[in-house]
Amino acid sequence: MSEKPMYLVLLGAPGAGKGTQAVLLVEKLGLVHVSSGDLFRENIGNKTELGVLAQSYMDRGELVPDGVTIQMVMERLSRPDCVSGVVLDGFPRTLAQAQSLDEALAARGDAIALALYVFVPQDALLRRLSGRWTCRQCKAVYHQEYSPPRHVGVCDVCGGEVYQRPDDMPETQKNRIEVYMRQTEPLIEYYRQAGVLAEVDGRGSVEEVQNMLLQVIRGIG
Ligand code: AP5
Repeated sequence: MSEKPMYLVLLGAPGAGKGTQAVLLVEKLGLVHVSSGDLFRENIGNKTELGVLAQSYMDRGELVPDGVTIQMVMERLSRPDCVSGVVLDGFPRTLAQAQSLDEALAARGDAIALALYVFVPQDALLRRLSGRWTCRQCKAVYHQEYSPPRHVGVCDVCGGEVYQRPDDMPETQKNRIEVYMRQTEPLIEYYRQAGVLAEVDGRGSVEEVQNMLLQVIRGIG
């Protein structure tokens, strides 16, 4: 792999498996996982001003405004652990976010290496979101049917409490998918035009999708 830091963007609808795949990719590629959703949930847990603001949007399945989102992610990307490269999960989600990211990377002589679009049809997205359980502590992701923890309610990795995200309730799920189609899908064309888009079929098993992603990433190495 080249010496230059590698910046990968994972694109896809809520429930497409971005978080699941990001965790595996960073392990294999020695990159850092930056999830805007996790950063917001940390702020909510710590009851920060940003957390209170973010929660009011997340509870409805709406996007948090660009200004605060861009600032939060840029601050995370400026930390020393990001120097070798990053897998971005959940960011960017609007054209303004994508342009800000490109500008920030260009200012330091970097660019997005690949935007990996993981496609999953809507009925499968809803099944995945309805059955998702997440560890409160280490953020490990489970599915009650496809990949349950060994003991109900207990994380296999750290022993933490496994809970259902409030925005995985049926009404919010539907709105999140609609918001994704309206505000985030245009990024597929944005990255296609930039010549960095790679499309991966997200309907297979976690391992199959991971292998396809690694194949594409290694293809540019
Ligand atoms: P965020 O936390 O980013 O949620 P999301 O994009 O809606 O994505 P998810 O975490 O729901 O899904 P995922 O694709 O990671 O799927 P997962 O791997 O968990 O954002 C939440 C909210 O924060 C937003 O609604 C917004 O309000 C705000 N926000 C965040 N970023 C923002 C931004 N940039 N701008 C503005 N607002 C922002 O998998 C889902 C389930 O499927 C799991 O149970 C998993 O085990 C299972 N699964 C995964 N892969 C497979 C497979 N191959 N086969 C079977 N099951 C699978």
